[in-house]
Amino acid sequence: MKKLIITTISLLFVFTLVPCVAAEESGHDEPKATARSGEEVAKQCVACHAEDGNSIAPNFPRLAGQHADYMFHSLISYKNGDRKNAIMAGIVAALSEKEMKNVSEYYANMGGGLSVINIDDESSF
Ligand code: HEC
Repeated sequence: MKKLIITTISLLFVFTLVPCVAAEESGHDEPKATARSGEEVAKQCVACHAEDGNSIAPNFPRLAGQHADYMFHSLISYKNGDRKNAIMAGIVAALSEKEMKNVSEYYANMGGGLSVINIDDESSF
């Protein structure tokens, strides 16, 4: 009988604790859950960099097909001030690191607008 009481009490203890632990864990994960997807973040970029990431205005760099690593590094540089541009500094201020990564991958997977000049082809000069 004594054993049953002890078991019941310890079970009660476990079951009251579990929801607390679970609540704490989901609270901890919250920042990740709120990071927007690349597609979502890119909605903020279309005004300048165009819907398809291939802006035709020369002052807005093309992003479609850009390497994700390069683009992520550019965004980090705007954020920490290594690269100075008032417009882009304002844009990245509102983005988390995860969101910058997501949007970089999003553009990297878009049909590329980037091209490399063929140095063997003199007609391109
Ligand atoms: C209001 C216009 C505007 C908006 C909106 C904007 N950009 Fe830009 N972006 C620019 C300009 C201008 C530059 C060139 C800045 C420079 O000379 O460093 C630039 C440069 C960049 C570069 C560097 C490209 C390279 O080849 O080095 C990246 C990456 C970039 N933007 C990503 C984004 C992303 C991602 C968003 C949306 C979250 C965004 N931009 C929204 C105007 C804008």
